[in-house]
Amino acid sequence: MGETVKIGVWLTDKRSSGKIAFLQLRDGTGFFQGIIRKNDVSPETFDLAKHDLHQETSFYVTGEIAEDKRSKFGYEIHIQEIEVVGKSEDYPIGNKEHGIDFLLDNRHLWLRSRKPWALMRIRSRVKLATMEFFDKHGFTQFDAPELTGSAPEGTTELFETDYFDRSAYLSQSGQLYEEAGAMALGRVYSMGPTFRAEKSKTRRHLMEFWMIEPEMAWCHEEESEEIQEQYVAYLIQDLIDHCSRELEMVGRSVKSLKPFTELPYPRITYKKAIEMLQKGGIDVKYGDDFGSPEETYLADQFKKPVFIKNYPKEIKAFYMPSDPTDDRQVICADLLAPEGYGEIIGGSERSYDYEYITNKLEENGLSKEEYGWYDDLRKYGSVPHSGFGMGLERFLAWVTLQDHIRENIPFPRMLNRLNP
Ligand code: 4AD
Ligand code: MG
Repeated sequence: MGETVKIGVWLTDKRSSGKIAFLQLRDGTGFFQGIIRKNDVSPETFDLAKHDLHQETSFYVTGEIAEDKRSKFGYEIHIQEIEVVGKSEDYPIGNKEHGIDFLLDNRHLWLRSRKPWALMRIRSRVKLATMEFFDKHGFTQFDAPELTGSAPEGTTELFETDYFDRSAYLSQSGQLYEEAGAMALGRVYSMGPTFRAEKSKTRRHLMEFWMIEPEMAWCHEEESEEIQEQYVAYLIQDLIDHCSRELEMVGRSVKSLKPFTELPYPRITYKKAIEMLQKGGIDVKYGDDFGSPEETYLADQFKKPVFIKNYPKEIKAFYMPSDPTDDRQVICADLLAPEGYGEIIGGSERSYDYEYITNKLEENGLSKEEYGWYDDLRKYGSVPHSGFGMGLERFLAWVTLQDHIRENIPFPRMLNRLNP
């Protein structure tokens, strides 16, 4: 404060009267106000500010920094000089309401607005906090390939691409590779894009989304669930500590997040969930998978994230071991977010039995040629292990209260959208 500085800025808005102009500015790190008084600057400079600066014009401002108690940013700049760098006329995004398709068509520009800015800052922070959390808990980062010959989460939702004389698939999940990593390094995790050619046009689905996938050797499902809830609570506390301004900008109060830092989260079985849904008048029966209405109803009963444990085999992946208390089921859990956001984490124990996995691969039409390596993990010093995958945009949509997860990734890939 009190210092004269030169900063590169863009104009977001302006207002002027005869002797003073208020310029709303952004420099990439924040949004703030510049004040320019006719009496303090040359007539050319005042004229330029009034007539030549339009929305998104880029320029250098020189001026003195002062406190601005009315703005959330806390500071403003009293401008002495302006040096235009890049013109901007007829910027398509105004300060009026625009339709979502228009905004997505202009995503490359829309990112400059306040809400996208705050959402991207929160996303970046969550990735940083993820690295911190797993580092503190003894995990090694272990990157899974994006081009694969395998399809761990079912063979119908694959993006296929030419790979010289054969086909490759864009990774649906890094899990199988994380399992190999866990046998080498104990506790590993990956964080990267994953792809699903799901023809579903819901507010929870993207074709390309990011997943965080921890995998732990010598670990059963119960311990994995403890790590999951600690991880989610850690991320939320970290956002409260570091992104309260951004949270406020997107309409999420810190106070409403606080209860989600309190552990443990409740746990119920799939069977219990079916009972609760039926009691609530929802038409489901044992064996059904849950969609958005079921997940919302269940999570509403707890007002906290809730684990749903041990789903029927038919609706889960091949690598999950049988539930010893009911062999129609497998040892797994999904973590459902409250407030209507549904599944944010899918996880399970992994069978470490060679014969079980060999049979499952066969049953699922997954060839020895492609999956022999996965079988090998059970052949040489197999140990109990568990892991999970958290959808980054699902988590973010929940904590930032977005109606659709498309706003939580810089450039969303959706059924009808590959551009920009
Ligand atoms: O439940 P899923 O399919 O689990 C797996 O892929 C496991 N292999 C993960 C593991 O154990 N390592 O996906 C995990 C999470 C979901 O809970 C959801 O949050 C997110 O990934 N997800 C999606 N997010 C956005 N768009 C989609 N189409 C998604 N599909 C899954
Ligand atoms: Mg799932």
